[in-house]
Amino acid sequence: MRVFVDCDPGIDDALALAYLVAQPDVELVGVGTVYGNNSVDVTTDNALRLLELYGEPGVPVAGGANRPLVQPPHLAEGVHGRNGLGDVKTPEPGGAAVEESAAELLVRLARSAPGEIDVLAVGPLTNLALALGLEPELPKLVRRVVVMGGAVQVAGNVTPWAEANVNNDPEAAEVVLAAGFDLTLVALDVTMRTLARGPWLDELAAVESDRARSSSRFLDFYVGWYTDVFGERACAMHDPLAAAILTDPALVTESVEVPVRVELKGEHTRGLTVADLRPNPDLSDDRPKAALVTQVNSEEFLKRMLNALR
Ligand code: BDR
Ligand code: CA
Repeated sequence: MRVFVDCDPGIDDALALAYLVAQPDVELVGVGTVYGNNSVDVTTDNALRLLELYGEPGVPVAGGANRPLVQPPHLAEGVHGRNGLGDVKTPEPGGAAVEESAAELLVRLARSAPGEIDVLAVGPLTNLALALGLEPELPKLVRRVVVMGGAVQVAGNVTPWAEANVNNDPEAAEVVLAAGFDLTLVALDVTMRTLARGPWLDELAAVESDRARSSSRFLDFYVGWYTDVFGERACAMHDPLAAAILTDPALVTESVEVPVRVELKGEHTRGLTVADLRPNPDLSDDRPKAALVTQVNSEEFLKRMLNALR
């Protein structure tokens, strides 16, 4: 399968990339970057460094949006470190980002291989919204989009109701959810229940591969932040879970096809993802439906993640 990743690396973004490059049936056709966990300059540099580290320096990296469509950005240095990768040093990239923007690269790739490219979006959705502006037919040109974002029936992680990727650009998320992609939403509902815990982290630390060693060091920082959230040595595997669901949909053990919207006006609820989960939904609602993932096989995912890093 041919995969385009839009990301803001970011520690869990780094793990998602590591997962994908380890899959024999995945061809990474491009990586777009976006502000989010850090500025777009830093996330672009990190994407280049990670691909160098993972032995894939030939994958084109395109720098994307440096800010949301409407509001100012909220970066997350506390969670991901000042350099976005837990303040761990990574190899200097051999090459540079391509001239095209992330949105332009995605549109060009999608036009050149209609129906063949899968998109993994694990950062704010600004680049995807910009790509839709360049090519409104994009939902027909790509095969499938898996988005890590939103918090539907659980608390948010940056505001009481909003998840970081959606909260960073609610307008863009709303544009993407309305566009008619074949879209799977991997929200905090499942990622906050898919935790790398102490024994798994210890097992990873014992693996002797470059990918495992660097991931383990990135995670030391990340877990430092998450330990307060979970009250134990653990962290949520947001972006790598979405990557694994893209490559192996069987990891999803339950999902519902529902219209999902983003609250754009609420005084306390801006950035909230609202899914119509009523047993008697409004049948005249013409909002395209998304597959909202409600249960996953976390144990199998963690096994695969460890294998990918070996
Ligand atoms: C999402 O926000 C970012 O900080 C992570 O990389 C992930 O994509 C989780 O809410
Ligand atoms: Ca991310």
